[in-house]
Parts: sequence; C-alpha cells; structure tokens
Amino acid sequence: MTSNEGITISDDENTLTAGERGPTLIEDFLSREKLAHFDRERIPERVVHARGYGAHGEFQPYESLADLTMADFLQDPNKKTPLFVRFSQVVGSKGCNETNRDVRGFSIKFYTDEGNFDLIAINMPVFFIQDAIKFPDLIHAVKPEPDTEYPQGQTDHNTFWDFMANNKETAHMSLWIASNRAFPKSFRTMEGYGVHTFRLVNKEGKSYFIKFHIKPLLGVHSLIWDEAQRLGSDADFHRRDLWENIDIGNYPEYELAIQVIKEEDEFAYDFDLLDPTKLWPEEDIPLRRIGKIILNRNVENVFAETEQSAFHPGNIVRGIDFSNDPLLQGRLFSYTDAQQARLGPNHQQLPINRPVCPFANNQRDGASRLVIDRGKVAYHRNGLANNTPYTVPGTQGGFVTYPSTVEGHKVRSTASSFKDHYSQARMFWNSMTEVEKRQIIGAYCFELGKCGPFVRQEWVDVLAHISTELAKSVSKELGTTVPADVEESPVTKSSPALSLQNTIFVPDTLRVAVFLAQGFDGPGVSKVLETLAAAKLRVVIVHDTLGTVSGTEGIAYEVHDSFLTGSPLVYDGILIVGSGNITPYFTYTAQKFTTDIYNHFKPIGIIQKGDAVLEPLGLSADEGIVTDSDSEFASRFIKAMAKQRFWNRPSFLYPAMV
Ligand code: HEM
Repeated sequence: MTSNEGITISDDENTLTAGERGPTLIEDFLSREKLAHFDRERIPERVVHARGYGAHGEFQPYESLADLTMADFLQDPNKKTPLFVRFSQVVGSKGCNETNRDVRGFSIKFYTDEGNFDLIAINMPVFFIQDAIKFPDLIHAVKPEPDTEYPQGQTDHNTFWDFMANNKETAHMSLWIASNRAFPKSFRTMEGYGVHTFRLVNKEGKSYFIKFHIKPLLGVHSLIWDEAQRLGSDADFHRRDLWENIDIGNYPEYELAIQVIKEEDEFAYDFDLLDPTKLWPEEDIPLRRIGKIILNRNVENVFAETEQSAFHPGNIVRGIDFSNDPLLQGRLFSYTDAQQARLGPNHQQLPINRPVCPFANNQRDGASRLVIDRGKVAYHRNGLANNTPYTVPGTQGGFVTYPSTVEGHKVRSTASSFKDHYSQARMFWNSMTEVEKRQIIGAYCFELGKCGPFVRQEWVDVLAHISTELAKSVSKELGTTVPADVEESPVTKSSPALSLQNTIFVPDTLRVAVFLAQGFDGPGVSKVLETLAAAKLRVVIVHDTLGTVSGTEGIAYEVHDSFLTGSPLVYDGILIVGSGNITPYFTYTAQKFTTDIYNHFKPIGIIQKGDAVLEPLGLSADEGIVTDSDSEFASRFIKAMAKQRFWNRPSFLYPAMV
C-alpha cells in the first residue's frame, strides 16, 4: 500500500501520536491525506436522474443503414461498437428506492470510431412539457416539497399534480406514469425511447426525420403496484437484478429500432413532429429494427464509471442531427452546463466519457485536466505547428450541420400545432386492456388521494377531457365531481402496440422459488428442475434454513434462500414440492408465500402432494395453478411461467393495488 504520492505505507491503522496515550501529531501526512481525501469523496448528485446503475456492452447493426445515414457505426453489419448504459430514475435522490413510481432513464454512450454518440432515452415515448423553459418548474413541482422535504422520490404530492393540472400538455404523459410502466420489473425488461424527433443524414445530404426506440428481447414487463410498494424494503431491487444477471451470463439484449418519416411528409400527420408530447403510432409508422445491443460486462467501480458518466443529447456524430423540437433544443444547453457544475470542465477526459477515437483541439487547462497537452502552440491558424490540429471538410469526414431551412419572426409563443393535448392521451386510453385501465385508475386514485381536495378536483377536470369513464371512476374514489360542461375527446383510434399485453412472453431468466423439505423425492424433483433449467428458468431453492437440502437417492441441492431471507416479491412463480419431512414452518411459509404469489397473479406449481400444504388456502382449481396430474407437468408449468400473470384470477388485492 502506498500514499497517493507513492510512499510505501507501513501502518494504515494507527495515527501518529505523541506517546501511546498522547495527542495526534499534525505532521502525520499519511493520516491527513487519508482523511482529507475521504472528506471530499462525494460530488453533487445529478439534479435529476440521481439514482442510476450502469453496465458495459456492445452494439452491432443488422444491416448497413447507408440509405439513411452516414453514421460510421451504422454502416457495417460486422462492426461492433462498444457502449456504456446508465439506467436511472428521475425524481428520487441517490439513495431512493428503485421501485417507486417514476420515469426511468435509459442512456447509452456509443463509443464510435467517429466520436461519441449519446442516445439519452426514457422508458416512455413522450414527455410532460413541450418547452425546455418549463423544465425547472416541472422538477420543482415533482421533487420533495421544500418546506417538509417529503415525499421522497415519489410523485404523489400536491405540487406535482397541481403543476400537471395547470400545464395541460402533461395529459398524455400522465397516463404513461399512471400505468404500470412506471415501475418496470427490471432494467432488462424495460424499453427506451429517444422521445424527440432527430434527423438521420446520408452521404448524399438527404435528411430523414426519425425517432429512436430500444426494445428488450425479453419483452416489456412491469411490477404491479402492490409489489412495487412493498419492495420499498429492498431499495436495490433493479440494480441487483441487472448485476446478477450479467454476472451469471444472462446478458440483457435489446434491439435498437427507428421510425422514419421522409422530410417531404413532415406535415402529413395529425400531430406535429416537433411536439415531444406526441408519439408516432407504430401501426402508422412501422419500426425498423436496425441492430442489437447486448450488455455483457458489469462496471468495476460504480463511482468511477456510473457516477462520473456524463451523457449529453448534443453528443451526436456525423450522419445524425437535431430537429427543432423546443424541448430538445433546451436540453442541448442544459446537460453540459450541469456537467460543468457536477464534474468540472474536463469531464469529457474521464475514462468513462473519453472517446475511443483520437481527439485533439486547442482547448486547454481547467480544474483536473487529465491529458498532458504538449508543445508551445495552442491556437488555431498557426504556422509554427503546421496548423495542427487542423479541421477537416465535410467531404472528408468532418461534421457539418444539416442545412435545414429556418424562417419566421423571433417570438415567445407555443406553436398552434402543439395545442391538442387530449387526442393522443385518448388514443393511449383506448389502447389499454381492462386490466391496464384498472391499473391506471388505481394509480390516479392512490396518487391523488394523497393530495388536497382542490388539487384532486383540478386533475379530475383534466381527466374529463380525456375520457368521461376514466374521470368518473377516479372521481368515485376521490369524492370529486366530473364537470358537466367538459366534452371528452372524440378520438376512437387505438394503437395495439401501446398495450403491454402485446409484448414478448418468454420464460428466460424468470425466477422460480422451489420449496423443498429434507428427504424430498430426489429423482422426481431433479427431473422437473432439469427441465425448468433447460427452459432457461432460474431455479431458486427455498428451505427452512440455508445450507443443503437432501432428498432420496443422494440427490441434494444448495439452498439459495431460507424462509428468513426469501421473499415472494422477488420470485416470478413458485413450485411447492410436497414430498419429504414437511415442518410446520415449511407449511406456514409456503402458504404465506403462495398467498402473495396468487394475489400478484403469478404462476403456482404443485407436485408430489404439495396440494396438501395448500389445501387450506382453497386455491387448487384456479387459473395459473399447475398440478402434476400428468407427465406433462414441467412443460405446462414452463408455459405458465412464460405467461407471467394470470389477470383473470380473482385476486384479493384492493383494485388500486394491481
Ligand atoms: C428540457 C427538458 C430537459 C432538461 C432541461 C433536462 C435536463 C437534465 C439534466 C440537467 C440532467 C442531469 C445531467 C447530469 O448531471 O449529468 C438530466 C439527466 C437525464 N435526462 Fe434530462 N432533461 C430534460 C428532458 C429530458 C427528456 C425529454 C429525456 C428523455 C428523452 C431526458 C432524459 C434524461 C436522462 C435519461 C438523464 C440521466 C442521464 C444519466 O444517466 O446520466 N431528459 N436531464
């Protein structure tokens, strides 16, 4: 061990003192260095998206995208581009609970051979506001109230819903945050949306409007509200899931996709392409899946990598450009400005932010400069250094801004094409299944139930513009009234792509809790567990205590969770094995866990007379409960696991908790 100056340390546990019981000596440079550095270990947390977790990976395109863009990393299907991802949540502070209702961030830094491209996405395709100047107001309203500093990391307070009600452009986004997408099951089952319209520009200089999407190959899956709330006792639920899965080789995979609109079709739609409160319905503007993202390496140091990472929507590469979306334009200022304050003027030189391609310019000095700039010349247009570093024209690889046409007077106003706030909100509502509608109604009832009567009524007045049915259902619970003079949106269109019922359902990586008692039927159980593992389910052995649980014929398993350390909230399904020496604790815990799994609509498997344990619960005939009535048990159970939730089950949860 050495000091930061390289002095070899012989004792790192005792401070230098005058005599064994005497005062500390100020000359102890080793102790002073250690404490002084510790005193400065924290840097300001991000003003939003403070809680985050990262991983490394790579991107590979499916085919050349040269028809649309000259971006180097999108040309060759054999080329892999390294990347770093940071998942985050907007509202809470750095230590907040990961399952709170919130928007999630999904930022990707592509280290391309022509510089860094940052795709800073969220898990919802639209945003609250249309103009960046309102962002500080939104965040002040959503963060803990300044006089009490609560609620922490949640969106259930008066100021937030008051802001929403008085800024009607939030109507569409409100439905997204009231849906269960606001608490994803994992980062591995979460989508990303670039939200804004960007441009792709090809070698011929032709530009296309596009939206970016990131689609998880495991499908999009969410917790239910009761799980999300109770998982408050497990603040690290999402980061642990990501870390563990990467660690055991279950690498999360996503497809990068785009929607494309030709420049000449800019005005062909019933929404403005520049309005970030509008999505492009996938049925009208289909997704083009352009490549695969795989996350295959955990970070080694969260501070150095995740915390010091700095993403910026202005980090684009040749072949990608901005649109005039006023929210995007404001973001182009805000991110580096925030990072200058959070990380300093040389944050681009930190290892996690540094481009992998060579970089050179005449910027110099500033706090914590990492690069040693050599030579006497630090100005452009010089003779002494042969005018190096020199600029490169667009025809030879230099970045050139797309020459879009700009016209009009300088104004402070909202475009009239931005003023329809309810049509897409109504389309979203029309696209939901009955269960999803119940979830949204439940969310409004819970969140607004925490607000005072004035704010509750303000928001119900907004809901009435979207759907009378919705406003009435919420009003019933909140004791508010639906205004008689408001007409609901007449939109009948729906977009099936918006419902989570239409996502991908596979058993891969789902966790099954297997309740085993000592002396279980070894061969019978091992055959079932092998089949489950072959279907890529993760088997979690649960037993009275940790250690080993042994069955007949010398078959034994390491116990992963005991009745003390396990929780039904972290399993995707449960398998009760009835053979062996069943203890009263086994019966009690199996019943307790199964009751939660049942109420959370998740699959239950019962083999080898496990039904005796469950009989008192009276559940055996229900949907999603699979018994070993024939030799096909394992395949029926795997199918049930893949389905994940059995929504028609008569759960005993209060309707708002689903
Ligand atoms: C005008 C509106 C917005 C402003 C002013 C704004 C500003 C900021 C700022 C200052 C940060 C912290 C940056 C840092 O300290 O490194 C941040 C983080 C972030 N923002 Fe925004 N934001 C806005 C809208 C959006 C939108 C529309 C999206 C989604 C497309 C978004 C996604 C994110 C994400 C994912 C992060 C976390 C980045 C990370 O992981 O480090 N923001 N935003």
